[in-house]
Amino acid sequence: MSYVPRTDRPADKAACYAEVEGEILAVLDGEPNRVARMATVASMLADAFDSYFWTGFYVVDPDKAGADGAGELVVGPYQGTLGCLRIPFGRGVCGAAAATGLTQVVEDVHAFPGHIACDSRSASEIVVPVFGADGVLIAVFDVDSTEKAAFDGVDRAALERLLGKVFGT
Ligand code: SME
Repeated sequence: MSYVPRTDRPADKAACYAEVEGEILAVLDGEPNRVARMATVASMLADAFDSYFWTGFYVVDPDKAGADGAGELVVGPYQGTLGCLRIPFGRGVCGAAAATGLTQVVEDVHAFPGHIACDSRSASEIVVPVFGADGVLIAVFDVDSTEKAAFDGVDRAALERLLGKVFGT
């Protein structure tokens, strides 16, 4: 199978997400492997949006699950410059999403307490928790942009829906 990246995406962000979601679901049809699914989501979303500077997953490390529920994330499939390898739950934006189970939309990462600067060009980000079919957290999906306030409720709704369809069913 070959895939030709499109250059004529809809200007409307919600419409663009809807279009890419359909393509991602079509590509992943019948593919159960979680790494393959994560790699495909990161690649196709990064390709579709110019605002995506760093795009990828931090996966819950099963070897670091604390008895008190505290855990550690380890980097998974991503597109972009070098990302840090490990993030404890509760640390930075990714750690906050993992610890709370809630999407984090950060307009200015430099104003976020404990933000982890993997690349100083990142200015804003969205991190969405990813749950498996059993409702257990398996990863977070992190997108960074070099523009401030690049993400809003449209990104949040679209990514929560897309990740729910890809990993939660
Ligand atoms: N921005 C993240 C760290 C991961 S990198 O940006 C790839 C954070 O503070 O959680």
